[in-house]
Amino acid sequence: MKIRFLPVSLFSVLLCAGCGKKDAAPAASAAAPAPAASAAPAAAAPAAARVVEITANDQMKFSVATIEAKVGEEIKVVLKNVGSAPKVAMGHNWVLLKAGSDPVTFGAAAGTAAATEYIPAALKDQVIAHTRVLGPGESHEVTVRLSAAGEYPFLCSFPGHFALMKGTLTVK
Ligand code: CO
Repeated sequence: MKIRFLPVSLFSVLLCAGCGKKDAAPAASAAAPAPAASAAPAAAAPAAARVVEITANDQMKFSVATIEAKVGEEIKVVLKNVGSAPKVAMGHNWVLLKAGSDPVTFGAAAGTAAATEYIPAALKDQVIAHTRVLGPGESHEVTVRLSAAGEYPFLCSFPGHFALMKGTLTVK
């Protein structure tokens, strides 16, 4: 039977490997940065609605025909009538319809709805939001937030305007 000798001297070297370095650990912990309490994000603050400005003019044109938004994003649509023609002849509004609504059908029906700001009672359930009818120099705004993706048509429902004054709000 063979007796194996442990290399005692080697063990001693290993055990003493940490000797003489007492100051290393305390120095490291003291240098650790203090917890950054101020780093707590201020993300709780609600984001302000994104403003989408649209002008309408005497040539029956919206300055914006396409709007894109994210699902759940709040957007504030500000309509400004920058024309000079009288309101009775060239009024403008901005009417947002539910996805799948037909703006041509709506616009045609709106023509005789002067008493209700050109929002026809029979198709009122298709309307998500709308501004007032604006005369020259006037502005009005509406805020919308759509919770479903889709293509939402918008138009000016003043008589005869829907053919030219229309667009799409795309929510993704
Ligand atoms: Co118009």
